[in-house]
Amino acid sequence: MGIEFTPEGESVYEGHHDGADCNSISGWAWDMNLPDTPIYVDIHDGITLLATLRADEFRQDLLEAGKGNGKHAFNYPVPRSLKDSKPHSILVKVSGTDFDLVSTPKQINCMPIDKDVVAKYSLGYISAKETISAAKREGLSVCDYVERLWGKPGDTQRVIQQIASWGVFDVENPHILEIGAGTGRYLEKVLEKCKPAKYEIYEIARDWAEWLQSTYPIVSHEADGMSLSQTSDHSVDILHAHGVFVYLPFLMSYRYFKEIWRVVKNGGSIIFDICSEDCMDEATVEKWLSSEHYYPCFLSKGYVISLFERQGFSLFATFMNSYGEGRSEYLVFEREKS
Ligand SMILES: C[S@@+](CC[C@H](N)C(=O)[O-])C[C@H]1O[C@@H](n2cnc3c(N)ncnc32)[C@H](O)[C@@H]1O
Repeated sequence: MGIEFTPEGESVYEGHHDGADCNSISGWAWDMNLPDTPIYVDIHDGITLLATLRADEFRQDLLEAGKGNGKHAFNYPVPRSLKDSKPHSILVKVSGTDFDLVSTPKQINCMPIDKDVVAKYSLGYISAKETISAAKREGLSVCDYVERLWGKPGDTQRVIQQIASWGVFDVENPHILEIGAGTGRYLEKVLEKCKPAKYEIYEIARDWAEWLQSTYPIVSHEADGMSLSQTSDHSVDILHAHGVFVYLPFLMSYRYFKEIWRVVKNGGSIIFDICSEDCMDEATVEKWLSSEHYYPCFLSKGYVISLFERQGFSLFATFMNSYGEGRSEYLVFEREKS
């Protein structure tokens, strides 16, 4: 196992099953006689074939190790059907052959996703169906409609222009990821500006996630509310979230922060807003208290900045934005290039 020797001109496979946990099953495989051509792998649960995947994701370490053009990795998100608190033996083979990757099989044992827990945190929810048809009735885009509903016309464009003014979007065909895309009001504008090679979202409101996926050229992942499990390490150029870390409980935001550190590339940018100390002066807190909205979750700006700095990010801009009864503060970070 590991390398298969065959007569000249025929396939010579090599591959490694790197990992299997409750988020993803990963590894790489290639045909040494076709170094720049991706091959397929079969993922099995015991003897049952789960999926056939193209092993074509780029990994720097594969390129550096001389594995052709380095585009031979795969990442398979663990399906819900395997999250049943039972052990599963995950075996990966080169597709259609008996060639097992090195280090396969691997065992997993995963708890089901608790939908109630996820739903509990889906605050600020507005129904996709009702909102979209109301926008249509008014002859407005969804973005214009929700801005008007919330009494904040032009806010989205202002935030986008502010971010653009620091050159964050000046990346050619970037890989973009957005957490909590909601109605897609930022997504729509960023797609227009950046022409991304890939735009992924993690949104727990299924109705919005499905509508966005059917309306825009994006990939909407099944969101568990705290991880970016279907995104590879160091793959994202621009990661953004608007109105999300302002209201998630501290540990959920922290879980996402750890995932952000994992997926953002060297030289990549991150943009998100928080309810920082500078957003919560006494007068503003009084306004929140006298409203019916008790959802903001305070996050210390100093604490967040130093957390990200320790992970190799440097803060290069902050700005205030109107949010709910008061404002939120945007933090823009760049990850050091090496
Ligand atoms: C206040 S809305 C903001 C939506 C959008 N970013 C905007 O600014 O219009 C927050 C969004 O985050 C989503 N959300 C809440 N908790 C989440 C979580 N744990 N993971 C991913 N998305 C989440 C909600 O469903 C909602 O669409």
